[in-house]
Amino acid sequence: MSVFGDVPLAPPVAVFKLSADFREDGHPQKVNLGVGAYRTDDCQPWVLPVVKKVERLIVEDAGLNHEYLPILGLPEFRSASSKVALGDGSAAIKDGRVGGVQALGGTGALRIGAEFLRRWYNGVNNTATPVYVSAPTWENHNSVFADAGFKDIRPYHYWDAAKRGLDLAGLLDDLEKAPEHSVFVLHACAHNPTGTDPTREEWKQISEIMKRRSLFVFFDSAYQGFASGDLDKDAWAIRYFVSEGFELFIAQSFSKNFGLYNERVGYLTVVARDSENLSRTLSQMEKIVRTTWSNPPSQGARIVSKTLNCPELFAEWKSNVKTMADRVLLMRDQLKAKLQALGTPGTWDHITQQIGMFSFTGLNRECDHAHTHTHTHTHKELALPVCQWQPLKKMFLNNSSLLLKIRLFCYLVPPLFTKRSYIINMFELINVVLCACVDTNVRTGRRSESLMSRMIRSS
Ligand SMILES: Cc1ncc(COP(=O)(O)O)c(C=O)c1O
Repeated sequence: MSVFGDVPLAPPVAVFKLSADFREDGHPQKVNLGVGAYRTDDCQPWVLPVVKKVERLIVEDAGLNHEYLPILGLPEFRSASSKVALGDGSAAIKDGRVGGVQALGGTGALRIGAEFLRRWYNGVNNTATPVYVSAPTWENHNSVFADAGFKDIRPYHYWDAAKRGLDLAGLLDDLEKAPEHSVFVLHACAHNPTGTDPTREEWKQISEIMKRRSLFVFFDSAYQGFASGDLDKDAWAIRYFVSEGFELFIAQSFSKNFGLYNERVGYLTVVARDSENLSRTLSQMEKIVRTTWSNPPSQGARIVSKTLNCPELFAEWKSNVKTMADRVLLMRDQLKAKLQALGTPGTWDHITQQIGMFSFTGLNRECDHAHTHTHTHTHKELALPVCQWQPLKKMFLNNSSLLLKIRLFCYLVPPLFTKRSYIINMFELINVVLCACVDTNVRTGRRSESLMSRMIRSS
């Protein structure tokens, strides 16, 4: 009898399972629409040119070694990270009331912040303090706070499915009704998975209620630069809240905007009332880090700090970030234009109205079907990382296999007719028949596109 005999099998983590399935899928035209990672036109990961350059500098720097870093992290990385979030001229930084902890990615920053709040926020032992996360949100938010010991994790209204936009009234109402001192996790920009952020006016309304009701602001900033291509614009909400006098946390991730996914480089910025509160807070965070990872890894932090602290490299990084953000915007335009050109029913404006890495399509069915028959690996909610649209587009529009196109079509279209199940069944039937056929290449892409349009119209 094993000592592990009673261990239940945990379900796989969905996004990593999708990537594993993708790797195992031998189909030459497979597409991974699960993982939130940037891809080039050729569906390849992109090592930012500035990162390559800095990596060479690091290799050649004879002054560097592999000694342990301080528990709270590389000092020049720490100051530069806070500055990129709060801005060059931040009054809070000048006042000496901003500090933080180098962390293992944005996830590590969230976890250290959550652990600290549970232990010390507003008195000790906060297991019963409500923590609010947006509905929907990045799936790990709930687990990070639950594993840190919070027992009362609640959704706040965010996404209005009918209007495919922000449910501002619901969100403000939840803020008004939340118990005082509740913790609110707010996506700083490029909300994952809806791609929908509050406007500046809406942020002001959110801030006004949060201040009046003494609610704690925990920003998750995983996509600074990805929303607009401009680091300062994307940090507007954070800087506004700081200017309004909030004490707050910001979990920053450099995974996406530096493309340093596997280096696990993140930072928890702490903005406190004054330097004395900051010192005590950081002293407790040091204790948490000591028993968690003891001290952080250096490579990612060196890359980020060398880049942020050198004006030329910083300028180059900003231009690399803009390249990624612009490509995402282009993919949005092209996706919408093609759906419209095909006469696909429904409105597709939300694709270009949303921003950042993800597009919340609202489609939610047939994913398993899509997975099996089109080699397209997606989340159940079909929140698509838009930068990866290109390969899907190529497959959908340029590939000469009529069969493949109709399979894709059958996967993309039926969810639009949710109340008309007979249509869904009809498409299913077509698909099953086609899947039973031998792949026949029909060299006229146009013909199959117009066939799809006709099929949509005739339904
Ligand atoms: C909203 C949000 N927060 C945090 C993270 C975690 O980032 P990291 O990979 O740096 O841990 C992600 C990653 O996808 C995210 O989307």
